[in-house]
Amino acid sequence: MAKIIDPCTLVLFGASGNLSRVKLMPGLFRLDAAGRLPNHMAILSVGRGELSRETWHADIKTMLDAKFKNGYDKAVFERFIARNHYHANPPTDADAFNKMKVLLSDEKVFPQNLAYFLSVRPTDFAPIVEQLSEVGLLDEREYWRRVLIEKPFGTDLPSAQALQASITKHLKESQIYRIDHYLGKSALQNIMLTRFANTMFEPIWNNQYIDHVQITNNEILGVGDRTEFYNNTGALRDMVQSHLLQTLALVAMEKPKDLSPDSIRAEKIKLLQSIKPIPVAELHRHAFRAQYEAGRVCVGDGHGENVRGYLEELAKEGVTGSVTETYAALKLFIDNPRWKGVPFYVRTAKRMHEGNTAISIRFKKAPMQLNNEQHQNWLTLNIQPRECIKMEIESKIPGLDIATRTLSIDGPQRQQGDESIDSYESLLLNLMEGDPSLYLHISEVEAQWRLIDPIVKAWAEDQSPVHQYKAGNRDPEASSVIFDAKDQFWRYSIELGGDKQ
Ligand SMILES: NC(=O)c1ccc[n+]([C@@H]2O[C@H](COP(=O)([O-])OP(=O)(O)OC[C@H]3O[C@@H](n4cnc5c(N)ncnc54)[C@H](OP(=O)(O)O)[C@@H]3O)[C@@H](O)[C@H]2O)c1
Repeated sequence: MAKIIDPCTLVLFGASGNLSRVKLMPGLFRLDAAGRLPNHMAILSVGRGELSRETWHADIKTMLDAKFKNGYDKAVFERFIARNHYHANPPTDADAFNKMKVLLSDEKVFPQNLAYFLSVRPTDFAPIVEQLSEVGLLDEREYWRRVLIEKPFGTDLPSAQALQASITKHLKESQIYRIDHYLGKSALQNIMLTRFANTMFEPIWNNQYIDHVQITNNEILGVGDRTEFYNNTGALRDMVQSHLLQTLALVAMEKPKDLSPDSIRAEKIKLLQSIKPIPVAELHRHAFRAQYEAGRVCVGDGHGENVRGYLEELAKEGVTGSVTETYAALKLFIDNPRWKGVPFYVRTAKRMHEGNTAISIRFKKAPMQLNNEQHQNWLTLNIQPRECIKMEIESKIPGLDIATRTLSIDGPQRQQGDESIDSYESLLLNLMEGDPSLYLHISEVEAQWRLIDPIVKAWAEDQSPVHQYKAGNRDPEASSVIFDAKDQFWRYSIELGGDKQ
């Protein structure tokens, strides 16, 4: 059931940037079209350059035209465009935030509950919060004031703590919405419901029945035009520290006492804090990194495309000798009775043979083994490109002999007529509703950096050439060094037969 949203103003810093153009403006438009925005709701876009309201409206139209190629409803467009305003905040103008305050004080145009979306460079998060505070725009005495901080929240534990220290001079924890847009995905939210809204899973969700868990995010894409950002970040910090550890938390956490934001976060925090730190002295048995080299990738319709290697892409930008990983795989253990001894393999890679995000759970060997060919059961929660739950079980082949084959029970999560909601749409709505369940608590962010920092540091210090894998191929064979048992292997496509190397 839709929650009631107070009249409010969304103040969008960085509205002309890439994220806003591709996700936020189109997302807000779709929310408006679906009747999910309150009648009295305004959007104030803030950028550094001077623009007239008309010019800004024309730019919004360009964003919507680019996104909705099949057109959109004119009446919704008129309503949406009427909500939109623009304010220039040039860094050279010492009075810019005061001017913004004066503009916002017009209650007829701008409802006084204010949600700030900071879609700007991470170095701008703290200064913007400080300046909002200085002019009194974070004051909650009469109206609520919330601040959404884009990813990444810090680049390591000390910088995350420094950012936290500077913004909490001006904000209470309840005002801070730290985004991990993965959590806005309906398929990810479904992990918790699959576990706790069904009787059959919880009893077997432990080390007595589960052999290991694989959490995968593989992409066909390379680093594209983000070479500088990527080379300073790497797969571990870009994907594992945030999205994949959050996914792991949802898979492995204990049942929250209810579905309130505080209860869910409390269990996620407990879980993240109980992941054992990887011993740096044994890093090579727990973590593997690699970089893609030139190869051929699938670009849809079965066509292939020759692509450059990562180091060649960097060389084009004048950068040499990088050890930044485009492939990262970790083996993690959770220090609690439920998961004692169960490896969680977490991996992410660019330029793989397929793009897929999935949680694959392999169960232990069945009590009855008919022959060596008998497969172990797998349960896959597939996040993208297809949202589905798939179970693989052994079943008798009809006939005179006693023999089994693997049967795949495949349940698409998405059915015809279902709403298709982008993760940013649900998160924007949650921000305005004041529901932080899908946003990160600072303790989660800290626990995630605490795990990742020592590996990032050890990998940065090790300047020996990084293992190379051919673009368009499967995981490098050498990555199997992190497996705990000889019979473990990377699970691929959700289709039967797509599993073995
Ligand atoms: N793009 C994505 O898919 C994506 C995904 C995950 C996270 N993020 C995060 O989202 C944030 C934005 O990313 P982006 O890709 O949209 O970056 P971007 O394209 O560089 O856009 C940032 C925008 O911020 C504006 N800006 C800079 N300083 C400002 C200030 N002081 N006040 C108001 N506006 C200011 C700039 O616009 P003007 O020149 O008009 O001021 C610029 O267009 C970053 O923190 C990024 O890490 C982005």
